[in-house]
Amino acid sequence: MEKRPQLDILLCAPRGFCAGVDRAIQIVELALEKYGAPVYVRHAIVHNKYVVDGLREKGAIFVEELSEIPETGAPVVFSAHGVPKSVPADARSRNMFFLDATCPLVSKVHVEAQRHYAEGHEIVLIGHKGHPEVVGTMGQLPPGAITLVETVADAMVFEPRDAGTLAFVTQTTLSVDDTREIVAALQSRFPAINGPHKEDICYATTNRQEAIKAVAPEVDAMIVVGSSNSSNSLRLVEVAERAGCKVSMLVDRASEIDWSRLEGIKSLGVSAGASAPEKLVDEVIEAFAQRYDIKVEARVTAKENIAFNIPRELRTIEASVA
Ligand code: F3S
Repeated sequence: MEKRPQLDILLCAPRGFCAGVDRAIQIVELALEKYGAPVYVRHAIVHNKYVVDGLREKGAIFVEELSEIPETGAPVVFSAHGVPKSVPADARSRNMFFLDATCPLVSKVHVEAQRHYAEGHEIVLIGHKGHPEVVGTMGQLPPGAITLVETVADAMVFEPRDAGTLAFVTQTTLSVDDTREIVAALQSRFPAINGPHKEDICYATTNRQEAIKAVAPEVDAMIVVGSSNSSNSLRLVEVAERAGCKVSMLVDRASEIDWSRLEGIKSLGVSAGASAPEKLVDEVIEAFAQRYDIKVEARVTAKENIAFNIPRELRTIEASVA
């Protein structure tokens, strides 16, 4: 039998599902169980194709706007990324029954923005234009109350109405390093700017980026399991590249691995974005096991034990399933 090349795999930990994603998926599954199909979901519940396809098979129907939902009384779930205030208001005016799967750490940013506004602050949101979380956060307040800043260059040209009443909040899934630079630029121009202690990047985003940073300099290539619309997964690929890993690849599934970029590698790092199921990580490792003699070692840089409560309406059914 032909001798297969050796490959050392360093498995980043933490990786994959965060508490907010886990909760959002549970909400759709429990709603399907309690109310039966269809359950409508406004926007991809989490940014992962495999998760969305799986829920669709179970009877979830994904829409972008409430106006696409027929008036049948079926429940609608808002995605983990959060929604503008106008969405629940619209749902109420249509007499819809809705369940909010917004991650509690995103809701925390909404509350922060509202508090700053109530205190008379002009607000800067650091984030990516068009991302549903940014749309949701900006939509907590009247138009014009929040200005989006995406880069250091944006921060350097931003002209507030009154530099003395500024505050900032951030998207939860940003690059920790890029955000630190943007915050520093704002603070250098507006020393009195009010903000969170560090930034609003969540524990899961931070921990996954730290794990990648620890592993990337030691491996010839890095595979991040995640979908191309997943902000935190894309950031992991960037972090790996910046930490010195020459080949860094985002794949939804094993079938997307570009083997031509991996020729001659002797070591590989593997991680997964916060919305990517562990099953797909296993699938990727199995694909390498078919071609290489693999040795897998976990590299643990943090332990996580965070879990969020699900909405009250679904708690009884959760208890009976458990
Ligand atoms: Fe929430 Fe962070 Fe996950 S904001 S959905 S815990 S990536």
